[in-house]
Amino acid sequence: MKHYAITGGNALEGEVVIAGAKNAALGILAAAIMTDEKCVIENVPFVSDTRTLLKAIENIGAEVRYLDRHTVQICGKGIVGDESLSVDDEYIRKIRASYYLIGALLGKYKYANVALPGGCDIGSRPIDLHIKGFETLGAEVEISNGGKIVAKADKLKGEHIYLDTVSVGATINIMMAAALAEGKTTIENAAKEPHIVDVANFLNSMGANIKGAGTDVIRVRGVEKLHGAEYTMIPDQIEAGTFMAMAVATRGNILIKNVIPKHLESISSKLTDMGAKVIEYDDSVRVMADGKLKATQIKTLPYPGFPTDMQAQIAAALVLSEGTSIVIESIFENRFQYVPELIKMGAKIRVEGNTAIITGVSGLHGAKVEASDLRAGAALVIAALAAEGDSEIYDIDFILRGYEDFDDKIRSLGGIMEVIKTDD
Ligand code: UD1
Repeated sequence: MKHYAITGGNALEGEVVIAGAKNAALGILAAAIMTDEKCVIENVPFVSDTRTLLKAIENIGAEVRYLDRHTVQICGKGIVGDESLSVDDEYIRKIRASYYLIGALLGKYKYANVALPGGCDIGSRPIDLHIKGFETLGAEVEISNGGKIVAKADKLKGEHIYLDTVSVGATINIMMAAALAEGKTTIENAAKEPHIVDVANFLNSMGANIKGAGTDVIRVRGVEKLHGAEYTMIPDQIEAGTFMAMAVATRGNILIKNVIPKHLESISSKLTDMGAKVIEYDDSVRVMADGKLKATQIKTLPYPGFPTDMQAQIAAALVLSEGTSIVIESIFENRFQYVPELIKMGAKIRVEGNTAIITGVSGLHGAKVEASDLRAGAALVIAALAAEGDSEIYDIDFILRGYEDFDDKIRSLGGIMEVIKTDD
């Protein structure tokens, strides 16, 4: 077991370099097996979610080689794409993005058999839209008793698909299967997140014909096969946003490097409303705050709205802002699990349905708290760094799913933080 021991109260200052985008990596690594040729992907974040997906890909016969810590070579030639193919191990059931293997395998082999996805417990997280998309393309999809999804088709045929909820996962999954379908697929009401564009760009570099990614209508003209490619992934919008919120909550001054400032606009705008200063450069942002912060209102929305994956971290800064802030979570129904933990640190928050009402306090104090999911865990780290005194944060495996070298990066900014290993 591991936990973080943090002594708060320091303003974090210095420079931090952001890793590749975890959620883009999960789509891109899955897409890489859609060709029998080698793909080399650079800027892959070295976090447990990507390593878990790579293990699953390796288990079904693909060759996976780390050329360096952030560069992965994948060759999908060794996968036997018949009915003996099954993606299931204790790890794959833990990650949400295992669902991308359904779209990738169905597209390439017209057959997929993948354990149902797990991931953070932040709401019901159905995959009905993914299934509807595959069925519209001509696949038969069944959910087995053992909690596996089996999708098969004689052939996939391009169609018009309307998503009645904007879904990142469904958009990417349908795009992957459609890339190797016959004819033209149109995905309407598609998600527009930066990682949708990144996965589409990667597939196009493999020979796919996808247009409109980043808008709400994506058009995919199916091709017969895909070829190998070399690709460098985008930086992680949420890791960057987390350090931005950390700079503000600790009244610090951080230069956040290797980012695409355009992807951070919704976050920059809210931090500016709160009284922080955000300066954008070509591929970095500087975030500074001192003195008093102001309350604000936030509603999570699909991109380009404020990301649900940043809701908890900005709340950790809002608890220290003057006045009453309102945070509305409109994507997932169970994303306020960090609230009781922040209250243990002295925050004043009331949750009513999908709304958190935060009354700013002048300071937090250290406490023993538990991370309930990845971003909730990041929020607790931010709060602990801003609090006076010592905190212990448990269940940090959630945090390691999505933040590379989190403690090293925070220490390099002057944060006092240790990873404590215990036997039990
Ligand atoms: C992805 C991200 C996650 C992020 C979320 C929203 C990955 C691996 N994860 O998750 O970090 O928080 O986008 O930006 O990229 N829905 C349905 N039916 C479906 C699919 C989704 O009703 O078949 C609903 C969900 O319950 C949710 C909303 O659609 O209310 C958005 O979910 P979605 O965008 O699909 O999230 P994920 O792909 O799970």
